[in-house]
Amino acid sequence: MSKPQVVVTRRIPHAGLELVQEQADIRLWDSDEPIPRATLLEWVQGIDGLYCLLTESIDDELLDAAGPTLKVVSTLSVGYDHIDVDACTRHHVAVGNTPGVLTDTTADLAIGLLLATARRIPESIDAVRRGEWTTWKPEWMAGYDVYGSTVGIVGLGRIGTAFAKRLQGFDCRILYYNPEPNPANADAVGAEYVEMDTLLAESDFISIHTALTEQTQHLFDAEAFRKMKPTAILINTSRGGTVDQEALYQALVNGEIAAAGLDVTTPEPLPADHPLLQLPNCVILPHIASASYATRARMALLAAENVIAGVKGEPLPYPI
Ligand code: GLV
Repeated sequence: MSKPQVVVTRRIPHAGLELVQEQADIRLWDSDEPIPRATLLEWVQGIDGLYCLLTESIDDELLDAAGPTLKVVSTLSVGYDHIDVDACTRHHVAVGNTPGVLTDTTADLAIGLLLATARRIPESIDAVRRGEWTTWKPEWMAGYDVYGSTVGIVGLGRIGTAFAKRLQGFDCRILYYNPEPNPANADAVGAEYVEMDTLLAESDFISIHTALTEQTQHLFDAEAFRKMKPTAILINTSRGGTVDQEALYQALVNGEIAAAGLDVTTPEPLPADHPLLQLPNCVILPHIASASYATRARMALLAAENVIAGVKGEPLPYPI
């Protein structure tokens, strides 16, 4: 009996590829760059499973191109805003993601970005490289203390809670906003539920950990920035779309907030000449929150398990 056909849209950690290869015939886009859309639409015709990344839009056009053989779409990511899950359901295609395994790695990076932004670490490194370190100066490169501060977390899910757990070590007061309170997570990390406006007004740092949905699209807009402290710092490791970047740029330039640390932007990659990259009070990383070798390997394995189960018609171990 012939093996199921699976398209893998990018070079992925070896462990994941090997696992899929044992069970399926793979067509691999063997590159670190995204597969062109036209090629993907051609390659998916008649396949059984698609192993994709967050850079691929999975929509009606792609599902129609794949046709009725497609049983599963498995993404090597926890976020799935690039997948039209309703369209997949209509096409009887199961969808899986990689929850859980990247929680701590992502929370670690969010803390790193928070410290880097608050304490102006990238700006200081650049100044040293440019030879501007002339002497010890009392207020040169002074930033904001994280310890003892009030931190507002938007989205106290797995990653938000892991982030809060780390903040306990900095003796922070932790506020959170979710559409519904989450007492189980909150009690574990001593977080206090507040309305969004209170979180905006009282937080020294705000960190976004919510999924991108219609409700969270541009949650941080001009109005939100006006409600924040002028000394506040925004950290985003969720999805770029949760922040209105035009409004963020204005808020940073006009001093409505002090700084921002972004691991995610719109678009990705952010063009090198983007106005946000000209601002010293905006730290931008290239969407690396889950990028440790171990975590990316675990994600590749989970996504492999999903695609294998899916092509066999079995329930996915990590379904959406
Ligand atoms: C990364 O952003 C992910 O969703 O896994």
